[in-house]
Order: sequence, then C-alpha cells, then structure tokens
Amino acid sequence: MNKDPGDEQAMSLEFSLESLNFIRAGEASSELKQRLNKLGFRPELVRRAAIAAYEAEMNVIIHAEKGTMKVEITPARLLVLVEDEGPGISNIEQAMQEGFSTASEAIRELGFGAGMGLPNIKRCADDLEIQSTPGRGTRLKITINNEQR
Ligand SMILES: Nc1ncnc2c1ncn2[C@@H]1O[C@H](COP(=O)(O)OP(=O)(O)O)[C@@H](O)[C@H]1O
Ligand SMILES: [Mg+2]
Repeated sequence: MNKDPGDEQAMSLEFSLESLNFIRAGEASSELKQRLNKLGFRPELVRRAAIAAYEAEMNVIIHAEKGTMKVEITPARLLVLVEDEGPGISNIEQAMQEGFSTASEAIRELGFGAGMGLPNIKRCADDLEIQSTPGRGTRLKITINNEQR
C-alpha cells in the first residue's frame, strides 16, 4: 500500500505472472476484482477492469515468458500496467484486429486464442497504450476512469 502525498486513498497492487501456468491463470485479475468490489467501486467499473486485467494477464501467460501486473487505484481512476519479457508484438495494428491470433493449436484446445483479448481490453478501457519491442517484450497501460460513461 503506497500513499501519494495528498492522496490518502491511493493504493497500489502488484502481481507476478508466469508463462503457461494455467493453474494460477486468472488469479491476479480475480484478486483485483475482489479488491475493487471491497473498495466499493461501481459494479460496471469493476466488470470492465476485471475483463481488461484478465485478458492482459492471459496474454502474458499464453504469449510471453513472464511479467508483472501493477495496479494503481485512486477514487478517480484505475491504472493497470502489465509488462512482460517475451517475443513482443511486431505488428500492433494487426494484433488489435478482432479474431487475429498467433496462439498454437494446443492453446486453442484449452479454449484460448480467439483473438478477442486486445480488442476487449480496448473496449473496456478509457485509454489503452501498447508499447512493444520484438524479441524483448510488451507493455500495456490500461486506464479506466471512475465516472459514468
Ligand atoms: N503480451 C504479449 N506478448 C506477445 N504477443 C502478444 C501479447 N499479447 C498479445 N499478443 C499477440 O497479439 C495477438 C492477439 O492477442 P489477443 O487479441 O489477446 O488474442 P489471443 O490472445 O486470443 O491470441 C496474439 O495472438 C499474439 O500474437
Ligand atoms: Mg489474448
């Protein structure tokens, strides 16, 4: 729990994410969801944050090597930062297309790889920034504002 000076209600969370660990898959986003519910955020905002965080978490588990999810929570907005070490995304525009996926057959058999993750994150976020260096890794910054949309 970090406190910014002048912002008594600021809070931050951090989770580590591990490639292909399907036992722990979804834990980070599900804990985030519980925390946001306990903090009293509106169900609609909690739902959007949980979906965006889940898709970003699964992308690290499925497509990268390892990573972290850091969440900064203030009454005004949620900031979800997901950084990984992995192959990166060479063509972000293509990766953002609905249905585009490079997931293997084995991953698809587990029910993943529909190619809807990044488009869903975009839909749930008020702002989405993606930075990626092929061969190094990817960084997603997801902003969700706490206001009626
Ligand atoms: N963290 C990541 N690291 C490397 N590639 C990624 C990452 N996230 C997404 N991608 C690439 O973008 C594509 C589309 O992602 P997404 O829309 O979540 O669909 P899916 O995960 O079902 O393949 C992935 O198939 C993959 O090629
Ligand atoms: Mg995905």
